[in-house]
Amino acid sequence: MKVIWNSQIVEREEVKIDPEDRGYQFGDGIYEVVRAYNGKFFCIDEHIDRLYTSASKIEMAIPQTKDKMKRLMNQLLEESGIETGNLYLQVTRGIASPRNHVYPDLSVLPTITGNITVVPRDAEKIKAGIKTVIEEDIRWLKCDIKSISLLGNIMAKHEAHKKNAEEAILHRDGIVTECSASNVAIVKDEVIYTHPDSNLILPGVTKIVWLKCAEKLGIEVKEEPFTLEQLNESDEVFCSSTTIEVMPIHTINGYAVNGGKIGEVTQKLAKAFEEEIEKVCGKV
Ligand SMILES: Cc1ncc(COP(=O)(O)O)c(C=O)c1O
Repeated sequence: MKVIWNSQIVEREEVKIDPEDRGYQFGDGIYEVVRAYNGKFFCIDEHIDRLYTSASKIEMAIPQTKDKMKRLMNQLLEESGIETGNLYLQVTRGIASPRNHVYPDLSVLPTITGNITVVPRDAEKIKAGIKTVIEEDIRWLKCDIKSISLLGNIMAKHEAHKKNAEEAILHRDGIVTECSASNVAIVKDEVIYTHPDSNLILPGVTKIVWLKCAEKLGIEVKEEPFTLEQLNESDEVFCSSTTIEVMPIHTINGYAVNGGKIGEVTQKLAKAFEEEIEKVCGKV
């Protein structure tokens, strides 16, 4: 299997991760995931932009230009022969010895890896929705950086898994932020509420797309914080991410949202999102 390794495409077996790579030692790195449908990436430029923004927020200089990165990603997709799947691109601050928390100087080049796997689209689940639980948001205060240090996220997701749910809705002192691996929104009286972009959430690429869809559909959106109480009293709840698209939530902590029926606003938005994918990637 081929992978991206720094500025080249190589066989996976050729990649060596050094024990003193800062990604491996400190979780000092950033990443992106880009989804491909029918052999074409969806929103690749938005993902690359966010990768470079994350890099600049931690004073990391990615040596490749955005264009070069895009070419590598497209080349990997093409060589893999994968039609529908997820490409994970990780950039760490590189290898520095001896171990030292302080950033090494810029002559230490980042380590870049990228791998793509087949992940079919789960259209049934996008219709049926998922079960969720509520967990405290125990993460750090720079959630806008797409960091590879994901312990807070994976602990929340694992709690959800233990409770037989697929996603954890996170809150800080009663304010809903996002989910462990997706953004979240509620619908009340046909108005969508979602946490505004800030240091407390990841600015989702999927959210950019569904916000545009909502505008086209004439659905009002308020990007403002909402509480657990509002969540519990909402008519509809959905989450969104690159890998799950616009995903309805039918159960929260064992209680059915809207009597378990997927609401109309969410359905319209999920459909409009699918149409956006199809404009770029063809029929899905
Ligand atoms: C914590 C978190 N929030 C939000 C998102 C959604 O981001 P995007 O729509 O760009 O995939 C993700 C996606 O991985 C995530 O991990």
